[in-house]
Amino acid sequence: MPATAPTWDPAQYLRHAGHRARPFTDLLARIPDLPADAPRIADLGCGPGNVTVLLADRWPTARVTGYDNSPPMLERARQYAGPTPGGGHLDFAPADARTWTPDEPFDLLVSNATLQWVPGHADRFPDWIDRLAPGGTLALQVPGNFDAPSHRLLRELADSRRWRDRLDGVLRHDDAVLTPEGYLARLAAAGCTADVWETTYVHLLPGEDAVLDWVKGTGLRPVLDALGGDPAARDAFVEEYRTVLRAAYPAEAHGTPFPFRRVFAVARKPAGSAGSAGSAGEAGR
Ligand SMILES: C[S@@+](CC[C@H](N)C(=O)[O-])C[C@H]1O[C@@H](n2cnc3c(N)ncnc32)[C@H](O)[C@@H]1O
Repeated sequence: MPATAPTWDPAQYLRHAGHRARPFTDLLARIPDLPADAPRIADLGCGPGNVTVLLADRWPTARVTGYDNSPPMLERARQYAGPTPGGGHLDFAPADARTWTPDEPFDLLVSNATLQWVPGHADRFPDWIDRLAPGGTLALQVPGNFDAPSHRLLRELADSRRWRDRLDGVLRHDDAVLTPEGYLARLAAAGCTADVWETTYVHLLPGEDAVLDWVKGTGLRPVLDALGGDPAARDAFVEEYRTVLRAAYPAEAHGTPFPFRRVFAVARKPAGSAGSAGSAGEAGR
């Protein structure tokens, strides 16, 4: 059974902000022109807002809303809220991607490094695409590294005799995301033309126990939450995990190489398509 999203620590997450932003800029580079001069954009699972700002940079006249269900992330993001230099506007609002349905037409719906936390997220695609303006785009990026040592070792440790009873069902399983072909099929079935690809980044991380530091901001958080009431147990788990990670990702003189596979999809709704969003969209602009 997939686990639910954990408590987030924006400061820990942002410790590797440069590496984490790279897939977002690569995703952005493949998004085609949007159908409106002053587009309406949603960033679903916006996190601390630092990449949401890049949407306002690319579309200076856009009205961009970052949605997230984590209060600490939204609080951090709100420092960027307000008018943008190009005449657009940026704001942030609570929303849960498991149930969120746009209540207005969007020209672009982006979700970066979020949908792996949303079980069954591909079932939401038809609703989201229906509410896109004609010619609008749904663009997403998810990690495809659930078989990487960082995640496999974490699952193995959580499933070991010592921890099994306390951590059963806490971690996401390897079916948290679809294959690239799976995304292509689901987006095509929803009537879109889709561009799907995968990339393995080799992040070169600085410092000691760099991979542990990275996963403390993301994949390890459900365990930190589950053991949060027992700091001695939490620290013991982290020490065991640190030991196996050091062996799996040895630090080199130039840093610790951390291969990280990611899956991308950019799906465009046909410009001529009628949908419930289309007619409302033109009127609502
Ligand atoms: C790894 S962060 C990515 C943040 C940002 N998109 C980025 O690229 O830096 C994942 C974000 O997804 C949010 N999230 C997870 N599950 C969610 C849900 N069901 N609804 C809305 N946001 C969710 C988390 O709160 C977190 O801010």
